[in-house]
Amino acid sequence: MNQHAKVTALFFSPTGGTRAYVEEIAGAMSDHVETWDLTRPEVRRQSRSFGPDEVVVLGVPVYYGRVPEVEGLLDGLTGSDTPAVLAAVYGNRAIDDALAELADLCAARGFRPVAAGEFIAPHTFFAKIGAGRPDEADREAARALGKQAADKLDKPDWTQPQLPGKRPYREFQVAPFYPEGDSRCVQCGACVRTCPVEAISSQDPRQTDSERCLRCLACVRACPTGSRAVRSMAYDATVDKLEHALVQPRQPQLYL
Ligand SMILES: Cc1cc2nc3c(=O)[nH]c(=O)nc-3n(C[C@H](O)[C@H](O)[C@H](O)COP(=O)(O)O)c2cc1C
Ligand code: SF4
Ligand code: SF4
Repeated sequence: MNQHAKVTALFFSPTGGTRAYVEEIAGAMSDHVETWDLTRPEVRRQSRSFGPDEVVVLGVPVYYGRVPEVEGLLDGLTGSDTPAVLAAVYGNRAIDDALAELADLCAARGFRPVAAGEFIAPHTFFAKIGAGRPDEADREAARALGKQAADKLDKPDWTQPQLPGKRPYREFQVAPFYPEGDSRCVQCGACVRTCPVEAISSQDPRQTDSERCLRCLACVRACPTGSRAVRSMAYDATVDKLEHALVQPRQPQLYL
């Protein structure tokens, strides 16, 4: 593949782990990379068509072994037999059916999945799990995926690789906790602007629409006063139960 070919880096990435991998993969494929941040609701509302001579690199975090349940996540995107390199980024537990689901969603929108990878990033809920990822070895694996995908596109055989995951996909879950603000809120609006699904009221940013909330915790990170946090025994119990079970570092897997 020509190093000047147009590659678009597409990602949904509330806390930045997925974005880091997608940019690494896309940067290894071309020096002409455009970024399309699907984390932003206003970007998801736009329409974007891709031709057969373009390439997209598309990454999502794994939520409950699935693609995050974000309304209209890919609805604005249309491919025209456009090759797609896919990335599922997870918090060191498992990706389960996320790559299979992402490949199906892409194919339904006119993209042709030609290569994919699973990669590890810090887990949203457990500070210790996946800390420091992506490290240099992870970045090298991401670049290897980009280079091998580019080589594959030079050849006539663009078959979809065998991807892990079952159909029907595992059932989507909803964690029994979500963040809210407390009296330390100074109404700065940082959480409102950060939330990828507009689940925080600009009138009262201490409130959370628990039906819309993804539990991505981007608002907690954005809050400068410590007001927004998950204050729930269910959350503490989940952390206690899983933190020890997930310490063994997992390694990236590439599918070509
Ligand atoms: C609601 C939710 C569900 C998650 N489910 C899984 C999971 O099933 N397996 C896993 O390994 N990590 C899981 N994670 C961790 C994320 O996949 C991981 O932290 C990811 O890197 C976040 O991506 P981002 O930094 O691009 O936002 C989950 C995170 C959230 C918020
Ligand atoms: S309110 Fe929910 S969806 Fe919005 S940023 Fe916070 S955790 Fe994420
Ligand atoms: S980021 Fe924190 S302080 Fe700012 S509006 Fe949100 S809850 Fe309040």
